[in-house]
Amino acid sequence: HTALKPELYRPQYHFSPKAHWMNDPNGMVYFKGTYHLFFQYYPDGTTWGPMHWGHATSKDMVRWQEQPIALYPDSLGWIFSGSAVVDVANTSRFGKNGQTPLVAIFTHHNSRLEKEKSDKFQYQSLAYSLDEGKTWTKYAGNPVLPNPGITDFRDPKVRWFEPQKKWIMTLATKDRVTFYSSPDLKNWSRESDFGQHLGAHGGVWECPDLFPLEHNGKKSWVLLVSVNPGGPNGGSATQYFVGDFDGKSFKPYSSKTKWMDYGTDNYAGVTFANTGDRTILMGWMSNWQYAGVVPTSPWRSAMTVPRTLGLNEVNKELYLTSTPVNELDVLNGPAVSVKNVPVKGQYDLTPKTKNDSGVFKLDLTTQNTTDFSIVLANDQGNEVVIGYDKAGKGYYLDRSRSGKTDFEKGFGKRHTAPRLSLETKISLTLLVDAASVEVFADNGLTVMTDIFFPDKPMSRLFIKSATGITVSNLTYTRLTAVSQSG
Ligand code: FRU
Repeated sequence: HTALKPELYRPQYHFSPKAHWMNDPNGMVYFKGTYHLFFQYYPDGTTWGPMHWGHATSKDMVRWQEQPIALYPDSLGWIFSGSAVVDVANTSRFGKNGQTPLVAIFTHHNSRLEKEKSDKFQYQSLAYSLDEGKTWTKYAGNPVLPNPGITDFRDPKVRWFEPQKKWIMTLATKDRVTFYSSPDLKNWSRESDFGQHLGAHGGVWECPDLFPLEHNGKKSWVLLVSVNPGGPNGGSATQYFVGDFDGKSFKPYSSKTKWMDYGTDNYAGVTFANTGDRTILMGWMSNWQYAGVVPTSPWRSAMTVPRTLGLNEVNKELYLTSTPVNELDVLNGPAVSVKNVPVKGQYDLTPKTKNDSGVFKLDLTTQNTTDFSIVLANDQGNEVVIGYDKAGKGYYLDRSRSGKTDFEKGFGKRHTAPRLSLETKISLTLLVDAASVEVFADNGLTVMTDIFFPDKPMSRLFIKSATGITVSNLTYTRLTAVSQSG
Protein backbone atom coordinates (compact mmCIF):
# COMPACT_ATOMS: atom_id res chain seq x y z
CA HIS A 1 0.00 0.00 0.00
CA THR A 2 1.23 3.44 -0.85
CA ALA A 3 -0.18 6.26 1.22
CA LEU A 4 -2.23 8.59 -0.96
CA LYS A 5 -0.99 12.13 -0.72
CA PRO A 6 -3.97 14.43 -0.41
CA GLU A 7 -4.20 16.64 -3.45
CA LEU A 8 -4.58 20.13 -2.02
CA TYR A 9 -5.19 21.77 -5.40
CA ARG A 10 -7.35 19.07 -7.00
CA PRO A 11 -10.45 20.78 -8.42
CA GLN A 12 -13.55 19.39 -6.72
CA TYR A 13 -16.08 20.19 -9.45
CA HIS A 14 -14.04 21.24 -12.45
CA PHE A 15 -12.71 18.72 -14.91
CA SER A 16 -9.01 17.92 -14.50
CA PRO A 17 -7.20 14.85 -15.83
CA LYS A 18 -6.16 12.30 -13.21
CA ALA A 19 -2.57 12.80 -14.27
CA HIS A 20 -0.39 14.65 -16.77
CA TRP A 21 -0.63 17.72 -18.92
CA MET A 22 -3.83 19.17 -20.36
CA ASN A 23 -4.55 22.33 -22.35
CA ASP A 24 -7.38 23.37 -24.71
CA PRO A 25 -10.83 21.76 -24.73
CA ASN A 26 -11.38 20.08 -28.11
CA GLY A 27 -14.20 18.47 -30.04
CA MET A 28 -16.87 19.20 -27.45
CA VAL A 29 -20.10 17.65 -28.64
CA TYR A 30 -23.38 16.37 -27.24
CA PHE A 31 -24.40 13.06 -28.77
CA LYS A 32 -27.09 10.54 -27.75
CA GLY A 33 -27.40 11.78 -24.19
CA THR A 34 -23.68 12.16 -23.53
CA TYR A 35 -21.45 15.22 -23.45
CA HIS A 36 -18.00 14.60 -24.83
CA LEU A 37 -14.99 16.64 -23.86
CA PHE A 38 -11.76 15.98 -25.70
CA PHE A 39 -8.69 17.93 -24.73
CA GLN A 40 -5.10 18.65 -25.66
CA TYR A 41 -3.21 16.06 -23.67
CA TYR A 42 0.37 14.92 -23.16
CA PRO A 43 0.21 11.56 -21.39
CA ASP A 44 3.95 11.28 -20.70
CA GLY A 45 4.52 14.37 -18.60
CA THR A 46 3.14 17.38 -16.76
CA THR A 47 4.37 19.93 -19.30
CA TRP A 48 3.31 20.47 -22.91
CA GLY A 49 4.60 17.82 -25.34
CA PRO A 50 3.53 15.79 -28.40
CA MET A 51 -0.20 16.34 -28.41
CA HIS A 52 -2.97 13.74 -28.17
CA TRP A 53 -6.69 14.15 -27.69
CA GLY A 54 -7.62 13.01 -24.21
CA HIS A 55 -11.29 12.22 -23.63
CA ALA A 56 -13.89 12.55 -20.88
CA THR A 57 -17.65 11.99 -20.89
CA SER A 58 -20.52 13.23 -18.78
CA LYS A 59 -24.31 13.08 -18.64
CA ASP A 60 -24.55 16.60 -17.22
CA MET A 61 -21.27 18.46 -17.98
CA VAL A 62 -20.59 18.46 -14.23
CA ARG A 63 -19.64 14.90 -13.32
CA TRP A 64 -16.97 13.80 -15.77
CA GLN A 65 -15.46 10.40 -16.32
CA GLU A 66 -12.07 10.25 -17.94
CA GLN A 67 -11.91 7.85 -20.89
CA PRO A 68 -9.05 6.27 -22.85
CA ILE A 69 -7.09 8.61 -25.14
CA ALA A 70 -9.08 9.21 -28.34
CA LEU A 71 -6.43 10.36 -30.82
CA TYR A 72 -2.71 9.59 -30.88
CA PRO A 73 -0.02 11.31 -32.96
CA ASP A 74 0.65 9.60 -36.31
CA SER A 75 2.98 9.95 -39.31
CA LEU A 76 1.28 13.23 -40.29
CA GLY A 77 1.93 14.85 -36.93
CA TRP A 78 0.76 15.62 -33.42
CA ILE A 79 -2.95 16.14 -32.82
CA PHE A 80 -3.57 19.83 -32.16
CA SER A 81 -6.86 21.54 -31.32
CA GLY A 82 -10.06 21.16 -33.28
CA SER A 83 -13.74 20.37 -33.12
CA ALA A 84 -16.24 17.54 -33.60
CA VAL A 85 -19.60 17.48 -35.35
CA VAL A 86 -22.54 15.11 -35.58
CA ASP A 87 -22.79 14.46 -39.31
CA VAL A 88 -26.56 13.92 -39.26
CA ALA A 89 -26.97 13.67 -43.05
CA ASN A 90 -23.84 11.54 -43.38
CA THR A 91 -22.38 14.08 -45.82
CA SER A 92 -18.95 12.58 -45.19
CA ARG A 93 -20.14 9.04 -46.08
CA PHE A 94 -18.22 7.78 -43.04
CA GLY A 95 -21.48 6.35 -41.69
CA LYS A 96 -22.18 2.75 -42.72
CA ASN A 97 -25.58 1.02 -42.65
CA GLY A 98 -27.45 4.15 -41.70
CA GLN A 99 -25.13 5.07 -38.82
CA THR A 100 -24.62 8.72 -37.93
CA PRO A 101 -20.90 9.41 -37.74
CA LEU A 102 -19.20 11.69 -35.25
CA VAL A 103 -16.49 13.51 -37.17
CA ALA A 104 -13.49 15.23 -35.60
CA ILE A 105 -11.74 17.97 -37.54
CA PHE A 106 -8.32 18.76 -36.07
CA THR A 107 -4.92 20.22 -36.88
CA HIS A 108 -2.03 17.90 -37.60
CA HIS A 109 1.16 19.57 -36.39
CA ASN A 110 4.19 18.12 -38.15
CA SER A 111 7.24 18.76 -35.95
CA ARG A 112 9.62 17.29 -38.53
CA LEU A 113 8.53 19.83 -41.15
CA GLU A 114 8.70 22.55 -38.52
CA LYS A 115 12.34 21.65 -37.77
CA GLU A 116 13.13 21.70 -41.48
CA LYS A 117 11.91 25.31 -41.49
CA SER A 118 9.00 24.60 -43.81
CA ASP A 119 6.13 26.99 -43.18
CA LYS A 120 3.59 24.28 -44.08
CA PHE A 121 3.77 22.19 -40.91
CA GLN A 122 0.12 22.61 -39.81
CA TYR A 123 -2.83 21.28 -41.82
CA GLN A 124 -6.35 20.03 -41.15
CA SER A 125 -7.37 16.39 -40.95
CA LEU A 126 -10.36 14.20 -40.06
CA ALA A 127 -11.13 11.23 -37.85
CA TYR A 128 -14.51 9.59 -37.33
CA SER A 129 -16.24 7.43 -34.78
CA LEU A 130 -19.07 4.99 -35.37
CA ASP A 131 -19.35 3.85 -31.75
CA GLU A 132 -20.44 7.08 -30.03
CA GLY A 133 -16.94 8.46 -29.56
CA LYS A 134 -15.32 5.39 -28.01
CA THR A 135 -12.91 4.64 -30.85
CA TRP A 136 -11.76 6.79 -33.72
CA THR A 137 -10.48 6.06 -37.22
CA LYS A 138 -8.34 8.60 -39.01
CA TYR A 139 -9.46 9.35 -42.56
CA ALA A 140 -7.18 7.76 -45.18
CA GLY A 141 -7.35 10.93 -47.29
CA ASN A 142 -5.76 13.20 -44.64
CA PRO A 143 -5.00 16.04 -44.71
CA VAL A 144 -8.24 17.47 -46.06
CA LEU A 145 -7.00 21.06 -45.96
CA PRO A 146 -3.31 21.39 -46.84
CA ASN A 147 -1.28 24.37 -45.74
CA PRO A 148 -1.06 27.22 -48.29
CA GLY A 149 2.15 28.57 -46.71
CA ILE A 150 1.00 30.11 -43.41
CA THR A 151 3.04 29.15 -40.33
CA ASP A 152 0.10 29.32 -37.94
CA PHE A 153 -2.76 27.51 -39.63
CA ARG A 154 -4.84 25.74 -37.05
CA ASP A 155 -7.71 25.01 -34.66
CA PRO A 156 -10.60 24.29 -37.09
CA LYS A 157 -14.05 24.85 -35.57
CA VAL A 158 -16.74 23.45 -37.84
CA ARG A 159 -20.50 23.94 -37.81
CA TRP A 160 -23.37 23.22 -40.20
CA PHE A 161 -24.73 26.34 -41.99
CA GLU A 162 -28.30 25.34 -42.72
CA PRO A 163 -29.33 28.23 -45.08
CA GLN A 164 -26.73 27.15 -47.62
CA LYS A 165 -26.55 23.48 -46.61
CA LYS A 166 -22.80 23.48 -46.14
CA TRP A 167 -20.21 23.14 -43.43
CA ILE A 168 -18.34 26.26 -42.33
CA MET A 169 -14.85 25.96 -40.89
CA THR A 170 -13.53 28.86 -38.82
CA LEU A 171 -9.74 28.62 -38.79
CA ALA A 172 -7.01 30.63 -37.05
CA THR A 173 -4.53 31.76 -39.67
CA LYS A 174 -1.80 33.64 -37.79
CA ASP A 175 -3.09 37.23 -37.51
CA ARG A 176 -6.65 36.62 -38.71
CA VAL A 177 -9.44 34.12 -39.09
CA THR A 178 -10.13 32.39 -42.40
CA PHE A 179 -13.53 30.89 -43.22
CA TYR A 180 -13.75 27.79 -45.42
CA SER A 181 -16.80 25.87 -46.58
CA SER A 182 -17.44 22.27 -47.59
CA PRO A 183 -20.33 20.05 -48.70
CA ASP A 184 -18.85 16.88 -47.17
CA LEU A 185 -16.11 17.82 -44.62
CA LYS A 186 -13.51 16.50 -47.08
CA ASN A 187 -13.36 19.18 -49.78
CA TRP A 188 -12.84 22.72 -48.54
CA SER A 189 -13.00 26.08 -50.35
CA ARG A 190 -11.74 29.37 -48.96
CA GLU A 191 -14.53 31.92 -48.39
CA SER A 192 -12.96 34.98 -46.73
CA ASP A 193 -10.54 36.41 -44.17
CA PHE A 194 -11.41 38.46 -41.13
CA GLY A 195 -9.64 40.53 -38.52
CA GLN A 196 -6.18 41.41 -39.73
CA HIS A 197 -6.83 45.05 -38.77
CA LEU A 198 -9.37 44.58 -35.97
CA GLY A 199 -9.24 43.46 -32.36
CA ALA A 200 -6.25 42.64 -30.18
CA HIS A 201 -3.07 41.47 -31.87
CA GLY A 202 -0.60 41.20 -29.01
CA GLY A 203 0.14 37.67 -30.21
CA VAL A 204 -0.96 34.99 -32.61
CA TRP A 205 -4.68 34.25 -33.08
CA GLU A 206 -5.85 30.80 -31.97
CA CYS A 207 -8.94 28.68 -31.33
CA PRO A 208 -11.66 30.75 -33.04
CA ASP A 209 -15.36 29.86 -32.86
CA LEU A 210 -18.33 31.26 -34.78
CA PHE A 211 -21.92 30.76 -33.61
CA PRO A 212 -25.30 32.53 -33.69
CA LEU A 213 -27.00 34.03 -30.64
CA GLU A 214 -30.28 35.89 -30.34
CA HIS A 215 -31.03 39.11 -28.52
CA ASN A 216 -34.57 40.52 -28.48
CA GLY A 217 -35.53 38.21 -31.31
CA LYS A 218 -32.69 39.33 -33.54
CA LYS A 219 -30.00 36.89 -34.56
CA SER A 220 -26.35 37.92 -34.53
CA TRP A 221 -23.14 35.98 -34.98
CA VAL A 222 -20.42 35.88 -32.37
CA LEU A 223 -16.82 35.26 -33.34
CA LEU A 224 -14.53 34.23 -30.49
CA VAL A 225 -10.79 34.58 -30.99
CA SER A 226 -8.18 33.57 -28.46
CA VAL A 227 -4.92 35.55 -28.57
CA ASN A 228 -1.57 34.65 -27.04
CA PRO A 229 -0.16 36.84 -25.59
CA GLY A 230 -1.99 40.18 -25.46
CA GLY A 231 -4.77 39.59 -22.93
CA PRO A 232 -6.15 42.55 -20.92
CA ASN A 233 -4.37 41.38 -17.75
CA GLY A 234 -1.38 39.72 -19.42
CA GLY A 235 -0.72 36.45 -21.17
CA SER A 236 -3.36 34.59 -23.15
CA ALA A 237 -7.06 35.57 -23.27
CA THR A 238 -10.16 35.39 -25.44
CA GLN A 239 -11.67 38.34 -27.31
CA TYR A 240 -14.88 38.37 -29.34
CA PHE A 241 -16.71 40.22 -32.08
CA VAL A 242 -20.48 40.47 -32.64
CA GLY A 243 -21.78 40.90 -36.18
CA ASP A 244 -23.37 39.28 -39.23
CA PHE A 245 -22.36 36.19 -41.13
CA ASP A 246 -23.82 35.37 -44.56
CA GLY A 247 -22.14 32.04 -45.22
CA LYS A 248 -19.19 33.76 -46.81
CA SER A 249 -17.91 36.58 -44.65
CA PHE A 250 -18.25 37.99 -41.16
CA LYS A 251 -19.04 41.72 -40.70
CA PRO A 252 -18.69 43.07 -37.15
CA TYR A 253 -21.19 45.68 -35.93
CA SER A 254 -18.48 47.51 -34.00
CA SER A 255 -14.72 47.82 -34.01
CA LYS A 256 -14.46 47.81 -30.21
CA THR A 257 -12.17 45.16 -28.69
CA LYS A 258 -14.21 43.07 -26.24
CA TRP A 259 -13.05 40.33 -23.88
CA MET A 260 -15.10 37.30 -22.93
CA ASP A 261 -13.32 36.99 -19.58
CA TYR A 262 -11.03 39.53 -17.93
CA GLY A 263 -9.41 37.02 -15.59
CA THR A 264 -6.15 35.45 -16.67
CA ASP A 265 -7.41 31.87 -16.61
CA ASN A 266 -9.96 31.20 -19.31
CA TYR A 267 -8.28 30.45 -22.60
CA ALA A 268 -9.06 28.63 -25.86
CA GLY A 269 -12.71 28.35 -24.86
CA VAL A 270 -15.12 27.16 -27.54
CA THR A 271 -18.70 25.92 -27.66
CA PHE A 272 -20.22 22.45 -27.68
CA ALA A 273 -21.69 21.17 -30.94
CA ASN A 274 -25.26 19.87 -31.10
CA THR A 275 -26.76 21.46 -27.98
CA GLY A 276 -29.85 22.80 -29.74
CA ASP A 277 -30.88 26.29 -28.66
CA ARG A 278 -28.29 26.47 -25.92
CA THR A 279 -24.79 27.75 -26.54
CA ILE A 280 -22.40 26.32 -23.97
CA LEU A 281 -18.72 27.08 -23.58
CA MET A 282 -15.88 25.65 -21.56
CA GLY A 283 -12.37 27.08 -21.50
CA TRP A 284 -8.96 25.96 -20.38
CA MET A 285 -8.55 27.38 -16.87
CA SER A 286 -4.93 28.45 -17.23
CA ASN A 287 -2.65 30.81 -19.12
CA TRP A 288 0.30 30.12 -21.40
CA GLN A 289 2.31 32.61 -19.32
CA TYR A 290 2.66 30.11 -16.45
CA ALA A 291 0.64 26.97 -17.26
CA GLY A 292 3.77 24.81 -17.33
CA VAL A 293 5.01 25.85 -13.89
CA VAL A 294 1.89 25.94 -11.69
CA PRO A 295 2.48 23.94 -8.48
CA THR A 296 0.15 20.98 -9.09
CA SER A 297 1.03 17.32 -9.33
CA PRO A 298 0.54 14.72 -10.80
CA TRP A 299 -1.64 16.69 -13.24
CA ARG A 300 -1.61 20.17 -14.73
CA SER A 301 -4.66 22.27 -15.53
CA ALA A 302 -8.44 22.13 -15.28
CA MET A 303 -11.34 23.36 -17.40
CA THR A 304 -13.69 26.20 -16.42
CA VAL A 305 -17.25 25.27 -15.49
CA PRO A 306 -19.55 25.06 -18.52
CA ARG A 307 -21.16 28.43 -19.20
CA THR A 308 -24.28 29.42 -21.07
CA LEU A 309 -23.56 32.23 -23.53
CA GLY A 310 -25.98 35.00 -24.38
CA LEU A 311 -26.06 38.59 -25.62
CA ASN A 312 -26.98 41.77 -23.80
CA GLU A 313 -27.12 45.38 -24.97
CA VAL A 314 -25.54 48.34 -23.19
CA ASN A 315 -25.42 51.78 -24.80
CA LYS A 316 -26.26 50.34 -28.21
CA GLU A 317 -23.37 47.87 -28.07
CA LEU A 318 -23.99 44.14 -27.94
CA TYR A 319 -21.93 42.22 -25.40
CA LEU A 320 -21.49 38.55 -24.73
CA THR A 321 -22.73 37.27 -21.37
CA SER A 322 -21.54 34.08 -19.64
CA THR A 323 -23.36 32.40 -16.78
CA PRO A 324 -22.82 29.01 -15.13
CA VAL A 325 -25.06 26.30 -16.64
CA ASN A 326 -28.07 25.25 -14.54
CA GLU A 327 -26.78 21.69 -14.42
CA LEU A 328 -24.29 22.89 -11.80
CA ASP A 329 -27.16 23.00 -9.30
CA VAL A 330 -26.61 19.26 -8.68
CA LEU A 331 -23.61 20.40 -6.64
CA ASN A 332 -25.65 22.52 -4.24
CA GLY A 333 -25.24 21.49 -0.62
CA PRO A 334 -26.47 23.27 2.52
CA ALA A 335 -27.05 27.00 1.99
CA VAL A 336 -27.10 30.01 4.30
CA SER A 337 -28.76 33.32 3.40
CA VAL A 338 -28.73 36.79 4.89
CA LYS A 339 -30.71 39.84 3.84
CA ASN A 340 -30.26 43.60 4.14
CA VAL A 341 -26.98 43.65 6.01
CA PRO A 342 -25.21 46.98 6.28
CA VAL A 343 -21.48 46.40 6.16
CA LYS A 344 -19.09 49.08 7.33
CA GLY A 345 -15.59 47.84 7.92
CA GLN A 346 -15.63 44.08 7.94
CA TYR A 347 -18.32 41.41 8.11
CA ASP A 348 -17.01 37.94 8.94
CA LEU A 349 -19.20 35.31 7.34
CA THR A 350 -17.08 32.38 8.49
CA PRO A 351 -19.06 31.46 11.63
CA LYS A 352 -22.37 31.59 9.79
CA THR A 353 -21.32 29.70 6.71
CA LYS A 354 -18.92 27.25 8.40
CA ASN A 355 -16.90 27.59 5.25
CA ASP A 356 -14.36 24.91 6.21
CA SER A 357 -14.05 23.30 2.77
CA GLY A 358 -13.56 26.59 0.93
CA VAL A 359 -15.51 25.04 -1.97
CA PHE A 360 -18.68 27.03 -2.48
CA LYS A 361 -20.90 29.33 -4.45
CA LEU A 362 -21.63 32.86 -3.31
CA ASP A 363 -24.52 34.88 -4.73
CA LEU A 364 -24.61 38.47 -3.62
CA THR A 365 -26.62 41.58 -4.50
CA THR A 366 -25.89 45.04 -3.17
CA GLN A 367 -28.29 47.91 -2.72
CA ASN A 368 -25.83 50.59 -3.70
CA THR A 369 -22.81 50.89 -5.96
CA THR A 370 -19.77 51.67 -3.87
CA ASP A 371 -16.38 50.22 -2.97
CA PHE A 372 -16.54 46.81 -1.35
CA SER A 373 -14.74 43.51 -1.48
CA ILE A 374 -15.19 39.83 -0.82
CA VAL A 375 -12.19 38.21 0.78
CA LEU A 376 -11.40 34.50 0.58
CA ALA A 377 -8.82 33.75 3.24
CA ASN A 378 -7.26 31.13 5.53
CA ASP A 379 -5.31 31.09 8.78
CA GLN A 380 -2.00 31.18 6.90
CA GLY A 381 -2.53 34.78 5.86
CA ASN A 382 -3.36 33.92 2.26
CA GLU A 383 -6.13 35.86 0.60
CA VAL A 384 -7.87 36.36 -2.71
CA VAL A 385 -9.76 39.65 -2.91
CA ILE A 386 -12.62 40.24 -5.32
CA GLY A 387 -14.01 43.74 -5.33
CA TYR A 388 -15.65 46.71 -6.94
CA ASP A 389 -13.77 49.97 -7.33
CA LYS A 390 -16.19 52.84 -7.75
CA ALA A 391 -13.65 55.45 -8.88
CA GLY A 392 -12.27 53.09 -11.52
CA LYS A 393 -15.79 51.86 -12.43
CA GLY A 394 -14.54 48.34 -12.43
CA TYR A 395 -14.09 45.02 -10.75
CA TYR A 396 -10.82 43.60 -9.59
CA LEU A 397 -9.41 40.29 -8.50
CA ASP A 398 -6.25 40.43 -6.45
CA ARG A 399 -4.26 37.23 -6.00
CA SER A 400 -0.97 38.85 -5.03
CA ARG A 401 -1.12 37.34 -1.52
CA SER A 402 -2.98 34.16 -2.44
CA GLY A 403 -0.35 31.63 -1.30
CA LYS A 404 2.17 30.18 -3.72
CA THR A 405 2.81 32.87 -6.31
CA ASP A 406 6.56 32.91 -6.84
CA PHE A 407 6.71 30.14 -9.46
CA GLU A 408 6.30 32.89 -12.09
CA LYS A 409 6.95 36.59 -11.68
CA GLY A 410 3.74 37.79 -13.30
CA PHE A 411 1.40 35.50 -11.37
CA GLY A 412 0.89 37.36 -8.10
CA LYS A 413 -1.00 40.36 -9.44
CA ARG A 414 -4.19 42.35 -9.22
CA HIS A 415 -6.41 41.99 -12.30
CA THR A 416 -9.01 44.51 -13.37
CA ALA A 417 -12.15 44.49 -15.52
CA PRO A 418 -14.51 47.26 -16.58
CA ARG A 419 -18.06 47.24 -15.26
CA LEU A 420 -20.32 47.42 -18.32
CA SER A 421 -23.70 47.30 -16.59
CA LEU A 422 -25.54 50.57 -15.89
CA GLU A 423 -27.65 49.13 -13.06
CA THR A 424 -27.30 50.61 -9.58
CA LYS A 425 -27.37 47.23 -7.90
CA ILE A 426 -24.31 45.07 -8.22
CA SER A 427 -24.90 41.35 -8.44
CA LEU A 428 -22.10 38.84 -8.24
CA THR A 429 -21.92 35.07 -8.40
CA LEU A 430 -18.65 33.48 -7.32
CA LEU A 431 -17.80 29.86 -7.92
CA VAL A 432 -14.93 28.95 -5.65
CA ASP A 433 -13.05 25.67 -5.93
CA ALA A 434 -9.86 24.43 -4.26
CA ALA A 435 -7.63 26.46 -6.58
CA SER A 436 -9.86 28.75 -8.62
CA VAL A 437 -12.55 31.39 -8.55
CA GLU A 438 -14.94 32.32 -11.34
CA VAL A 439 -16.63 35.69 -10.91
CA PHE A 440 -19.83 36.41 -12.86
CA ALA A 441 -20.83 40.05 -12.41
CA ASP A 442 -24.07 41.71 -13.55
CA ASN A 443 -25.59 38.52 -14.96
CA GLY A 444 -22.44 37.60 -16.79
CA LEU A 445 -21.66 40.93 -18.49
CA THR A 446 -18.27 41.07 -16.78
CA VAL A 447 -16.51 37.82 -16.01
CA MET A 448 -13.20 37.08 -14.28
CA THR A 449 -11.67 33.63 -13.89
CA ASP A 450 -8.46 33.21 -11.89
CA ILE A 451 -6.57 30.29 -10.42
CA PHE A 452 -4.61 30.44 -7.12
CA PHE A 453 -2.63 28.13 -4.88
CA PRO A 454 -3.18 28.74 -1.15
CA ASP A 455 -1.16 26.95 1.55
CA LYS A 456 -4.41 25.68 3.07
CA PRO A 457 -8.06 25.76 1.89
CA MET A 458 -9.68 29.21 1.83
CA SER A 459 -11.92 28.47 4.81
CA ARG A 460 -12.60 32.05 5.85
CA LEU A 461 -14.89 34.48 4.15
CA PHE A 462 -15.35 38.23 4.67
CA ILE A 463 -17.21 41.13 3.13
CA LYS A 464 -15.43 44.45 3.52
CA SER A 465 -16.37 48.03 2.78
CA ALA A 466 -14.67 51.14 4.10
CA THR A 467 -17.34 53.50 2.77
CA GLY A 468 -20.25 51.30 3.84
CA ILE A 469 -22.44 49.13 1.67
CA THR A 470 -25.75 47.35 2.15
CA VAL A 471 -25.83 43.76 1.05
CA SER A 472 -29.46 43.15 0.06
CA ASN A 473 -29.13 39.44 -0.50
CA LEU A 474 -26.35 37.00 0.11
CA THR A 475 -26.48 33.23 -0.25
CA TYR A 476 -23.59 30.95 0.54
CA THR A 477 -24.02 27.45 -0.90
CA ARG A 478 -21.59 24.70 -0.06
CA LEU A 479 -20.71 22.73 -3.19
CA THR A 480 -20.26 18.98 -3.26
CA ALA A 481 -17.04 17.38 -4.46
CA VAL A 482 -17.67 15.30 -7.56
CA SER A 483 -14.34 15.21 -9.33
CA GLN A 484 -12.18 12.21 -9.94
CA SER A 485 -8.77 12.35 -8.36
CA GLY A 486 -5.46 10.62 -8.86
C1 FRU B 1 -3.96 27.09 -27.93
C2 FRU B 1 -3.03 26.22 -28.77
C3 FRU B 1 -3.67 25.94 -30.10
C4 FRU B 1 -2.99 24.66 -30.50
C5 FRU B 1 -2.83 23.94 -29.19
C6 FRU B 1 -1.59 23.11 -29.09
O1 FRU B 1 -3.77 27.00 -26.58
O2 FRU B 1 -1.77 26.86 -28.92
O3 FRU B 1 -3.52 26.98 -31.03
O4 FRU B 1 -3.74 23.91 -31.43
O5 FRU B 1 -2.81 24.95 -28.19
O6 FRU B 1 -1.60 22.31 -27.95
